[in-house]
Amino acid sequence: MKISYLGHSTFLVSVSGQGLLFDPFISPNERAQHVRIEEIRPQVILVSHAHQDHTADVEQIAKASGATVVSNFEIVNAFLERGVANGIPMNHGGTVRFDWGTVKMVNAVHTSSFPEGGYGGNPAGFVVSTEEGTFYYAGDTALTYDMKLIGEAGRIDFAMLPIGDHFTMGIDDALIAADFVNTNRILAMHYDTFPPIEVDRADCEKKARAKGKELVFLEIGEAREF
Ligand code: NI
Ligand code: MN
Repeated sequence: MKISYLGHSTFLVSVSGQGLLFDPFISPNERAQHVRIEEIRPQVILVSHAHQDHTADVEQIAKASGATVVSNFEIVNAFLERGVANGIPMNHGGTVRFDWGTVKMVNAVHTSSFPEGGYGGNPAGFVVSTEEGTFYYAGDTALTYDMKLIGEAGRIDFAMLPIGDHFTMGIDDALIAADFVNTNRILAMHYDTFPPIEVDRADCEKKARAKGKELVFLEIGEAREF
């Protein structure tokens, strides 16, 4: 599958003929101004929680593309009320089956209010399974023992994990999270966008190597096969 990094925690995953967009936060991201948002035409937009740095461009992209928003009940309903046509509300522990694969909503330890203060349900991560592989998108989360359940349930080829600390786990806990979900390949997210989450990449890579993990930093706008 091809994965494009669009900054912060935003990824566009092209798999089995589908475009899966995660947590679009592009137009307000000063580091992602070269990303052409009008060219992003996903079939599905997965939203981990309601915070602005994960939902800012959901409405615009969903309306322009007709994409289906997959998230918790509260977030999907909020976007339907704003005129987004298609949504699949789900909740923790549930799996939604598509003709290209499955999406399971898993736990995240975080919060989930909308920027305006509205209730955004509970934060989540996703386990996405397709014929081309299975990956875990953690969303914003602390390290939690619940991640062990993901590792025990089946093979995880790679995991998108927040490493920026302060609002989520940092690199040390992210490396433990990779152990918990039983993968050696991590795509870094939720770092460098704002001063409190700036990281020393070389230091993070050194820590990852010491634990036998591959830590991938994609440049914003870069796409790579996984
Ligand atoms: Ni958040
Ligand atoms: Mn965040």
